[in-house]
Amino acid sequence: MRTFVPSKQRIMSKRYTITAALPYTNGPIHIGHLAGVYVPADIYSRYLRLTGNDVAFICGSDEHGVPITIKAKNEGVSPQDIVDKYHAIIKKSFEEFGISFDNYSRTSAKIHHETASEFFKTLYDKGEFIEETNEQLYDEQADQFLADRFVIGTCPKCGNEESYGDQCEKCGTSHNATDLINPKSAITGNAPTLKKTKHWFLPLDKHEAFLREWILEGHKNDWKPNVYGQVKSWIDDGLRPRAVTRDLDWGIPVPVEGAEGKVLYVWFDAPIGYISSTKEWAKQVGKDWELYWKDKETKLIHFIGKDNIVFHCIIFPAMLKAEGSYILPENVPANEFLNLEGNKLSTSKNWAVWLPDYLIDFPNQQDVLRYALTSNAPEAKDNDFTWKDFQARNNNELVAIFGNFINRVVVLTNKYYNGIVPTPEDFSKVDLETLSEVKAFPNIISSSIERYRFREAQQELMNLARLGNKYLADEEPWKVIKVDEGRVQTIMFVALQISSALATLCEPFLPFTSAKLRKMLNISSGNLEMSWSDIASKEILIPAKHQIGDAELLFSKIEDDAIQIQLDKLIASKKANEAASKTVEPQKDTITFDDFTKLDIRVGTILEAEKMPKAKKLLVLKVDTGIDVRTIVSGIAESFTAEEVIGKKVTVLVNLAPRDLRGVESQGMILMTENAEGKLVFVNPDHSNVSNGLQIS
Ligand code: MF3
Ligand code: ZN
Repeated sequence: MRTFVPSKQRIMSKRYTITAALPYTNGPIHIGHLAGVYVPADIYSRYLRLTGNDVAFICGSDEHGVPITIKAKNEGVSPQDIVDKYHAIIKKSFEEFGISFDNYSRTSAKIHHETASEFFKTLYDKGEFIEETNEQLYDEQADQFLADRFVIGTCPKCGNEESYGDQCEKCGTSHNATDLINPKSAITGNAPTLKKTKHWFLPLDKHEAFLREWILEGHKNDWKPNVYGQVKSWIDDGLRPRAVTRDLDWGIPVPVEGAEGKVLYVWFDAPIGYISSTKEWAKQVGKDWELYWKDKETKLIHFIGKDNIVFHCIIFPAMLKAEGSYILPENVPANEFLNLEGNKLSTSKNWAVWLPDYLIDFPNQQDVLRYALTSNAPEAKDNDFTWKDFQARNNNELVAIFGNFINRVVVLTNKYYNGIVPTPEDFSKVDLETLSEVKAFPNIISSSIERYRFREAQQELMNLARLGNKYLADEEPWKVIKVDEGRVQTIMFVALQISSALATLCEPFLPFTSAKLRKMLNISSGNLEMSWSDIASKEILIPAKHQIGDAELLFSKIEDDAIQIQLDKLIASKKANEAASKTVEPQKDTITFDDFTKLDIRVGTILEAEKMPKAKKLLVLKVDTGIDVRTIVSGIAESFTAEEVIGKKVTVLVNLAPRDLRGVESQGMILMTENAEGKLVFVNPDHSNVSNGLQIS
């Protein structure tokens, strides 16, 4: 047997702390969160573990902040009730989608309160804060200071009229509430007054030189251009002190004298949640948490969405630097936003695909969503998720390429050899080329993953499945079996090597598929368990005489009707939003009572109706007005058929001057209005026993 030469191994064992943005616990998780933050962070963490690194993949629920208190108020429950509810829902979704956190904590945990308080105290004792009493926005009616999402106004930077007090969602700028132009209370809608209050400020200006040097000079080439560009623009605009405390009753109490009734700003405590979650984990598994946050050899990576850039690249690093004993992030590979069918994802407009709902409609199909989201990940610009694309990715790629290849290999191995890996004969040139191509894949995929290019990495993975599919199609074992059984042994042996490589290399992207496939190939335990580098270095991945299991379908076709159900859900959301946002026309100029009495409005009955030829909107009606039977041309044909209006009681303006409409004289007007879906409906005399001719008064 000839051998193939393994390519060079890349071994690098390092310690990594990988964080994924702590989600706010005021609603479930949707596909935008998954695509932008959690799937990429999970791919990266799984990859690092497979390549033999020491990884702490850290997350938890962000349970403070104004949106949670607003939601609690609206629902008439306590903020704790809200966070308990969504913490459980979110945690479950992450587990269900295979997001492999080493720890998922929450910021209401005792360890977090302690860690955040201590952190604040340290900065306070070191004199890293400015203590200042100045005027803040205040809502007299609600008897409350207005900060963050309690206040809405015009962004001083981009002019967005719906900027929040601490951040503009349009341009991403973070500002102080008093910077807003025309501020309004989100609680009462009132214009706020100013009231004096004391707060602690982090003087970002003091850290400007360090931030400039560390990011603008130090990470010019390795940070993503979208992240670097935003950071540069903020620093170039000039940094100012930021208040890190708030007058609120939900949050972590400010742990110093004279701060009664004040809590830490949510964006001060939340990133410290990464640290407290690491502590909680380290305690459970008997590790030293400090190595993951203070050892210079540890690489800290923050996975976030673009609206979090300022907090992770400027404010949190300034806090860490001010504290003095922490490492700083090595990279912050923030993603842009994912849209859904052409529109911005929105919780309030219910324009989203919620993870719990997805699993009801597509049970056990987590990997399909992970795959479709990674294929379309908003890595360099905002991107659109469409259900048609989701269907196509599944049917044309997962089913037709990956699934098809594996299925043929496993079915044929069972059919020809009772599931026992055959002993190869001499390898042909194509066999050797194919095997050496397989060995190049770990490095190709690594190189994309290490540059945070997960879409590209996943495409390469699919290219390996394509290679396998093509190999089988070219070698045609199902034909060769009739003439050369020995050759088929070799072909199937090669195909099984490719299958084993796929089983491991797909793990970061498709963890459920990987587990299923490894089980099918019977390589999920013992000495056939593989690391990433084994694929390049081991001569044989799955040996002759090894017994594999039965064929099981990895993916199944998604039919049009399943997609239509999803599209219909979105259409329903759209309609509901349109109805809710219908603007009410302002009142017209006042008329006198005499003007009103000029209108002769009566009850009538439609006796006959027919469509006006060549006119989309018009019906020609015969109406009994009680005075006479007359012809009225009405623009209702898009809402009603002729048949369904016959016999209807209607309200008629009878003394409107006759008008010629397409050659028919219309002698009056039927009064109509619109329902919630924008459909025309009759202004109805809703008692069937009112008689025709009765005047409306
Ligand atoms: N809860 C924030 C959001 O959803 C993210 C917090 S990230 C952390 O936008 F750094 F503060 F933890
Ligand atoms: Zn703005």
